[in-house]
Amino acid sequence: MSDKPDPMTVPFGTVFCDYMATARSTGGDYVYGGEVEPYGDFTMSPAAHVLHYGSAIFEGLKAHRQSDGSLAIFRLDDHVARMGQSAEKLRLPVPDAATLRKMIIDACESNATEVPEPPGSLYIRPTIIGTEPNIGAAATPSSEALMYVVNCPVGDYFKGGVRPLTLLIEDSIPRTTPQFGMVKSGANYAMALAPTLDAMEKNPAIDQILFATGGDITETGASNFFLCDGDKVVTRHLDASFLHGVTRASVITIANDMGYDVEERPIAIDELAEWAANGEAFLSGTAAVLAPVGTMIVDGRELTVGDGQPGENTMKLRQALVDIAGGQAGDPHGWRTPIEG
Ligand SMILES: Cc1ncc(COP(=O)(O)O)c(C=O)c1O
Repeated sequence: MSDKPDPMTVPFGTVFCDYMATARSTGGDYVYGGEVEPYGDFTMSPAAHVLHYGSAIFEGLKAHRQSDGSLAIFRLDDHVARMGQSAEKLRLPVPDAATLRKMIIDACESNATEVPEPPGSLYIRPTIIGTEPNIGAAATPSSEALMYVVNCPVGDYFKGGVRPLTLLIEDSIPRTTPQFGMVKSGANYAMALAPTLDAMEKNPAIDQILFATGGDITETGASNFFLCDGDKVVTRHLDASFLHGVTRASVITIANDMGYDVEERPIAIDELAEWAANGEAFLSGTAAVLAPVGTMIVDGRELTVGDGQPGENTMKLRQALVDIAGGQAGDPHGWRTPIEG
């Protein structure tokens, strides 16, 4: 018996699997020895670039136990591609896709015995940090980097499982800078922390802040935002200002397959009252999966979405997504990568 806590009952991301994969770059390709190693601490210089100038990027994806007992990673290649884009934006050495892919698969296969049964899953956290010891390098990239992949057995991201969430619409403080929102970098999360905590302190009922700088709704601190009804699915069109969620892309494809009209366009705060009265709202993300929104707080005014409970279309889309990821449905778009374990 494992002496680790039950991942289904502790906060998301606080239990770690026994093995990890690591690779180092001294400016060129990352060198991966082809073997995982025991999960454990790193040593690094106190002058490491990441500790001073924030050269850190990461990804978040999941492996799911399939209905036939096998294991598959969901949308592996899309996450590998996004990691490459983030590395490029921070001028970190860009990982070769095949190397990163193999590190992710090796880590997951080594940790396969720790994958919880659905609705649990194995969270996968590839990370790259700049390790060059040089505190004079504020305006130069790190010439050395460490890439690693760790795993967490996880349950629900939001405490209380699938339940209607409460969002505060924040129209003045941006989550990050307009050109950097699409980068999955630690710095973006650091910037969003204080406004999120301040808002939650004022109103403890808030689950997430929905950033809508200047009235332009984009995303929350950890997920993308959707509106829907029986005919339509609406989400913000892509630009550099927010993260291009892989789940967002999956929801759009699934919604198209199910016959919804999908609109990718600007979403104004002024639209929310009408959607709350006659439609549904939800969040999408690897950790959040597809999470119904029950209340939106706009300018101090609480808008109840529908009857405040998860909407019918939201739950249909959620089920379709969960079924593809978990192998209860076919895989028409080739999103599952089967692995050993
Ligand atoms: C800021 C932000 N937006 C959106 C998402 C959703 O992205 P994905 O669906 O790729 O997990 C995440 C989750 O990682 C996120 O952190």
